[in-house]
Amino acid sequence: MTKAVIRVSFLTLIGAFIITSCYSENYEDLYGPRDPECDSVLTTYTAGIRPWIDAECVDCHNSGASSGGLDLSTYQDVFDNANVVLDRIKREPNDPKMMPLGQPKLPRCTIQGFEKWIAAGKPEN
Ligand code: HEC
Repeated sequence: MTKAVIRVSFLTLIGAFIITSCYSENYEDLYGPRDPECDSVLTTYTAGIRPWIDAECVDCHNSGASSGGLDLSTYQDVFDNANVVLDRIKREPNDPKMMPLGQPKLPRCTIQGFEKWIAAGKPEN
């Protein structure tokens, strides 16, 4: 009797383990593309990315005042420094390296748009 109970519990446990191990942990597989409500214009250079760089970054990062040795005035500058820019804008607001310095963190969709633009090969679109 007790043995049967133990065996059933054991099998249930194994079964539960097998079922959960087949369960996909991949967010995109489960729910589709992340944040489909983000405006796809944010993934384009001219209409989506250049405007926030001009508004939030160029005051401190231009050819005259290149804080941290970084100039973000041109497409080529953004192209060349995309990874370090992404790293800084993804940081949390309490991180002193978070950019834009002294400003609130950029909106989630803005950051995601920039990430997608990089993944698309940083086109000048
Ligand atoms: C108020 C001025 C100011 C603003 C606005 C600002 N930055 Fe900065 N940024 C700095 C300073 C000062 C440094 C150098 C100190 C440091 O590395 O944190 C810096 C450093 C950086 C670096 C590191 C450069 C390197 O090569 O290590 C990146 C990348 C950067 N900023 C990106 C941005 C982006 C993107 C924005 C706009 C979203 C922005 N910054 C807005 C002042 C600013």
